[in-house]
Amino acid sequence: MDALTVAIAAAREAGALICRQFHQPNKVALKGPSDIVTQVDRDAENLIVARIRSAFPDHQFMAEEGHAPERDSEYLWVIDPLDGTTNFALGIPHFAVSIALARRGRAVLGVVYDPVQDETFVAEAGQGTQLNGCRILCARKATMSETALALGYLPTHYNHNPGLALPILLRLYPLVESIRIMGSAAMNLAYVACGRFDICYNDYLNPWDVMAGALLVEEVGGMATDFAGQPIALDTHSILAANDPAYYRQAFGVVQQVLADPRRR
Ligand code: IPD
Ligand code: CA
Ligand code: CA
Repeated sequence: MDALTVAIAAAREAGALICRQFHQPNKVALKGPSDIVTQVDRDAENLIVARIRSAFPDHQFMAEEGHAPERDSEYLWVIDPLDGTTNFALGIPHFAVSIALARRGRAVLGVVYDPVQDETFVAEAGQGTQLNGCRILCARKATMSETALALGYLPTHYNHNPGLALPILLRLYPLVESIRIMGSAAMNLAYVACGRFDICYNDYLNPWDVMAGALLVEEVGGMATDFAGQPIALDTHSILAANDPAYYRQAFGVVQQVLADPRRR
């Protein structure tokens, strides 16, 4: 089986496992401030890693709940078994499985699977993005003032960029049509790729949250970078993405203005 088939099958199997547990009482543990985990996160990760490892025994893994690369490898799977754990724990049906394959540090394949809606978003480098097997031809908004902006959490008290999220929000808010804080970075990016959202801003994250989703956006002709304008990589902790490069550039300008403003420190 090829890597894409294996990734889709693993994402769907993990998604089914997550959904079986969705309305069960799930014990929540705290990993850090505002950072929770359940047994379902760990079970889904173990399942995905086992499936991929049996197909590609030489590949390595970087996954949220503990799998780390054991040696250098050309191929690294970057996995968030359950993106949107807080939603899952609250009983809010909005979360996803996110699986990316990186070759020498850059995503070549990305799968974001929403098990609630049974939507599979898939991208391969240079091959475009698909939703449930159909190529996405992203419908872009005619003006920035019609766009929908998806934000991550606003954990300003322990943010990597202290005080950044609220000033950004205040400056972007008048420029866009609507703002959503949905609780899953992977889903935000999948929605940007298919035009449900247009721009995604998320701080305080890890590569497994966004590596697959960023490729979905890039493969519809959009742009996704960290706040320094660098491509999404294995040390990424922020993301700015848009399905239209013009909206990316406008939002990027706002982020740079706020980053450069000495008053926010
Ligand atoms: C989180 C979600 C959230 C984002 C956080 C992530 P998790 O992932 O993607 O939307 O704002 O930065 O950590 O903990 O649900 O896997
Ligand atoms: Ca995540
Ligand atoms: Ca997670």
